[in-house]
Amino acid sequence: MTSEKDQPSGKKRIALTVNGKRVECDIDTRMTLAEFLREDLDLTGTKVGCNRGECGSCTVLLDGVPVYSCTVLGVEAAGREVLTIEGLADEGKLHLLQDAFIEHDALQCGYCTPGMLMSIKALLDRNPQPTDDDVRKATDGNFCRCGSYPNIIKATLDASKKIAQE
Ligand code: FES
Ligand code: FES
Repeated sequence: MTSEKDQPSGKKRIALTVNGKRVECDIDTRMTLAEFLREDLDLTGTKVGCNRGECGSCTVLLDGVPVYSCTVLGVEAAGREVLTIEGLADEGKLHLLQDAFIEHDALQCGYCTPGMLMSIKALLDRNPQPTDDDVRKATDGNFCRCGSYPNIIKATLDASKKIAQE
């Protein structure tokens, strides 16, 4: 095991689970979780828009709860489970929610989409049959500058029905 004094300056060894896989590495203690995911783990599906907790494009699930990964330090994820957009598909098969987004044209530029999907995934995990209002509330921290909101709601409600039939 690496001792504290063996570690590079400003780095800390952490272990966590990312998209179901255990990861152990030295992380720059100043890095945000978004930077760690994108730069160290090459998981660039998580997008950074504002980088100050305003837009929601960087949303990932931390122990099942949506967080703005630009406002969480990477070291805070030590010992925890992170789910990013890359973990939503199952061995290349898109999640029903992703299929529904495509079917209902719920994205235009797509920049908000990974964060939006992660907020909605958390919603469906805790409330498999949401109402329109539930979807609005669950995504009120995810801004879509393209204004895809009506189709995002339609896609979510459709996906919730299909998931219930599985
Ligand atoms: S990039 Fe994190 S909230 Fe905007
Ligand atoms: S699809 Fe462009 S910001 Fe949402």
